[in-house]
Amino acid sequence: MSYDIEKSVLERYEEGAKNHQPSLCCPTEYDTQFLTIIPDEIIAKDYGCGDPTKYVKEGEIVLDLGSGAGKNCYIIAQKVGKNGQVIGVDFNDEMLNLARKYQSEISDKLGYNNTNFIKAKIQDLKLPLHKVELWLKNNPINSLEQLRTFETECDHLRQEETLIKDNSIDIVVSNCVLNLVKPDDKKQLFNEIYRVLKSEGKAVISDIICNEDVPLEMVKDPELWSGCISGAFREDKFIKMFENAGFKQVEILAKQNEPWQVVNGIEFRSLTVKASKEKSEQINNNSCCPPTSCC
Ligand SMILES: C[S@@+](CC[C@H](N)C(=O)[O-])C[C@H]1O[C@@H](n2cnc3c(N)ncnc32)[C@H](O)[C@@H]1O
Repeated sequence: MSYDIEKSVLERYEEGAKNHQPSLCCPTEYDTQFLTIIPDEIIAKDYGCGDPTKYVKEGEIVLDLGSGAGKNCYIIAQKVGKNGQVIGVDFNDEMLNLARKYQSEISDKLGYNNTNFIKAKIQDLKLPLHKVELWLKNNPINSLEQLRTFETECDHLRQEETLIKDNSIDIVVSNCVLNLVKPDDKKQLFNEIYRVLKSEGKAVISDIICNEDVPLEMVKDPELWSGCISGAFREDKFIKMFENAGFKQVEILAKQNEPWQVVNGIEFRSLTVKASKEKSEQINNNSCCPPTSCC
């Protein structure tokens, strides 16, 4: 790869937090009753491609991977209620600041605060990045020995100050983020989703999928990668990633009928899946909805 994928994603969404980016939008309909308390600035900086918030229930502990401006988290905060909990994870300071900016205003309107935004990579949910940054301030790296010490410190933080613990989450949601994770980290990402979920837990993920493998020349294009195109999974491979991580049941909940974009003849569309750690006794044959125009 001739460019730094993570840097291109960070820069694109730093800009997306400052100024609305129409090219990153895949228009999605949400239940409007939950939008009334959410400030316009957050609504405008919605870069999702589906609506995983529909599937959360009162009292649940929910982890939102790549929470961005916080729209999904603030919808979920209302749905889980004061006995539930919402954790938004993002690695982008601009997005985290934007999501946190309205936290007390929204809590005041709700009458409770059940939401927290934390800094981490979604493929490494044990590592608290704010603590890594603090450590680095006092321990700059200028040699291989210092690099080794840094790596040891990261392992220590993962073990002793685990950010998201094993079996601690009822439902992991994510809206248009998994595709953005570096190719080499994708397997670890699905393993992390599996690790943090309780045994009866589930993941509900909206993401962009495609109908053919994305060729290397498109993968090498930072604009296409950070625009949620080149990192998209082929649909069957997306399902397989959940199965390989150990999920027992994967169901398609919604699939966009018309492609969101067609690039070099490859169709890219939004898909929402539910992956359960346990197989339910009764498989609901109606749970796979007919193709819809979900976004
Ligand atoms: C397409 S936006 C979606 C934001 C939000 N889910 C929404 O529906 O508006 C992608 C978000 O994921 C974050 N992100 C991308 N890769 C990430 C990673 N590896 N770890 C943590 N956050 C990541 C970006 O900073 C950005 O806020």
